[in-house]
Parts: sequence; structure tokens; C-alpha cells
Amino acid sequence: MSVAEPLDTVLITGASSGIGATYADRFAQRGHPLVLVARNAARLQELAARLEREYRVKADVLAADLTSSTERAKVEQRLRDDDSIGILVNNAGVGGGSVLAQASPEVVQGMIELNVTAPSRLVAALLPRLLARGHGSIINIASALAIAPELFGGAYAASKSYVLTYTLALHKQVAEHGLRVQCVLPGVTRTEIWDQIGGLDAIPAQMIMEVDEMVDAALSGYDQGEVITIPSLPDIEEWNRFDEARRRMAPELSRNVAADRYKSDIPEDA
Ligand SMILES: NC(=O)c1ccc[n+]([C@@H]2O[C@H](COP(=O)([O-])OP(=O)(O)OC[C@H]3O[C@@H](n4cnc5c(N)ncnc54)[C@H](OP(=O)(O)O)[C@@H]3O)[C@@H](O)[C@H]2O)c1
Repeated sequence: MSVAEPLDTVLITGASSGIGATYADRFAQRGHPLVLVARNAARLQELAARLEREYRVKADVLAADLTSSTERAKVEQRLRDDDSIGILVNNAGVGGGSVLAQASPEVVQGMIELNVTAPSRLVAALLPRLLARGHGSIINIASALAIAPELFGGAYAASKSYVLTYTLALHKQVAEHGLRVQCVLPGVTRTEIWDQIGGLDAIPAQMIMEVDEMVDAALSGYDQGEVITIPSLPDIEEWNRFDEARRRMAPELSRNVAADRYKSDIPEDA
């Protein structure tokens, strides 16, 4: 009789609320052991206890502020050392103001630490082990703003563009080694993140998705093997056309001559 291999442990950042807590619930429901990361240890412990009770999975709590290099190092160490971890959900994130001229540089820097530096460092910690064993997954939570910065711009949208580009680059490098990567681009989702930004009252109801619907769609995209998942987008061909237009430009993006439009003589009557 063959013994089934244990399911991979999933490490989820920002698991104390919203999208991260919902991912924790769904992966626990699927039978995966969990490592839950965020700052608020009490909330993580409460969630871990519920998941252990409801789904009979092991759920560890690893409280850490991912903007602190010393606290983040504990999470990096866990990813390097814990052979059971095979799935990383880089979800923790904050907003950083939408009007660039008014944004505090310190707030923007803290946001970049959390939205950009932390996921990059956690992937760097985990990747060598996943590559060595030849399977595993990395799910990065970006935002629809990664491709629509005009909707609610500022440095937040730029941080999410980083997550998108990073995931595409990662996919190119690891897919042939058996690893799965996915970037999720949620639209407006009802979570506590909106308490910092000023609430959802000004946003039309038809633009707001409930968090269960968002995460279930993202996991459906994951199960279907998508690299890019945009839960709201009705027709995936819209994304495919956008991506294809970008790829079509690629051969022209680096040449030994400048484009003609930059070489025309300045008209005499200018
Ligand atoms: N909700 C939306 O409309 C929406 C749309 C697109 C993308 N997203 C993205 O989805 C992700 C999850 O956000 P959410 O909507 O679920 O918001 P949320 O409910 O506010 O959750 C954010 C999570 O990140 C954790 N976190 C915040 N600062 C942290 C830090 N310094 N170190 C460690 N953990 C930290 C929070 O826990 P603690 O406070 O306990 O640390 C919390 O668990 C974010 O990356 C966000 O940018 C959200």
C-alpha cells in the first residue's frame, strides 16, 4: 500500500485579515498545513485555532513586521529551513497615498518595504529549496492598478506593477524547473485595507467584490494553471491582447539606431 505524500505547507503573509485570512481558510479546507504571518499575533492565533478546529490541519503562527529587516529575517529563515513549506502566498500589503505630491516619503518607503522588498526577499529565501526539489508554487498578490495606475495612482500602483513584472520574470525563469507562479490582480475588494484609505462609500457597489468571491476566483485561476489572474475581467482575451501587444514590441525595443522620429531636422520656421 502506498502512503500519500503529505500536502505542502503554505506560508501566507498578511494572514490576519482580509484576503490573506481567506486564503488561509481555503488552503486549510484543502488540507494544507499553514504558517500564518502578520504583525498581530493575537488575531493570527485566533485564526489558527479556528482552522485547526474546523479543518484538522496544523496552523503555526509566525508574528513579524515585514518592514523590519530583523523581523523579516525570521520569516526568511523559516522559508529556508522548513522543508515542508512548498507554497508561498505573498499577500501582505498596504496603501501609500494616491496623490504623489502629498504623500509622505516615509509612508511611501514603508509601503515599498512591505509591497516590494518583502515579497522579493521571501521569494529569494524560498527559491533555492523549491528549485532543488523541482516543485512548489509562489502566489503574488498584486492589484488591477498594476495595469491601470490612472484609476488610483501614486506609488501604490507602481509597487503593484513591480509585483506583476517580477512575477512574469520569475515565471520565465522557473517554469521549466517545475515551479508554478501566479500573480493575482484583484480589483476593489471589501477588506480592512479600505479603512486606511477612507472607506468604500465613494465607490460604486458594482465595482466592489466580496473577499470570498475574490479569493475563490483566484484559486480557481491557480487550479487552472493561470500565471495572471484578474478575478473581475469577464473576457481573458482582453488581457491576452494586451500582453500580446507588449510582446510584439519586444524585438524593436533595443536597436543600434534611434527611431526616425528622433532624427528629423528641426523645421526652419520653428
Ligand atoms: N482590498 C482591495 O481592494 C485590494 C485590491 C487589490 C489588491 N489588494 C492587495 O491585497 C493584499 C491584501 O490586502 P487586504 O485587502 O486583504 O487588506 P487587509 O485586510 O488590510 O490585510 C492586510 C494584511 O497585511 C498585514 N500587514 C500589514 N502591514 C504589515 C507589516 N508591516 N508586516 C506584516 N504584515 C503586515 C495585515 O496584518 P497586521 O496588521 O496584523 O500586520 C493584514 O493581515 C495587499 O497586498 C493589497 O495591496 C487589495
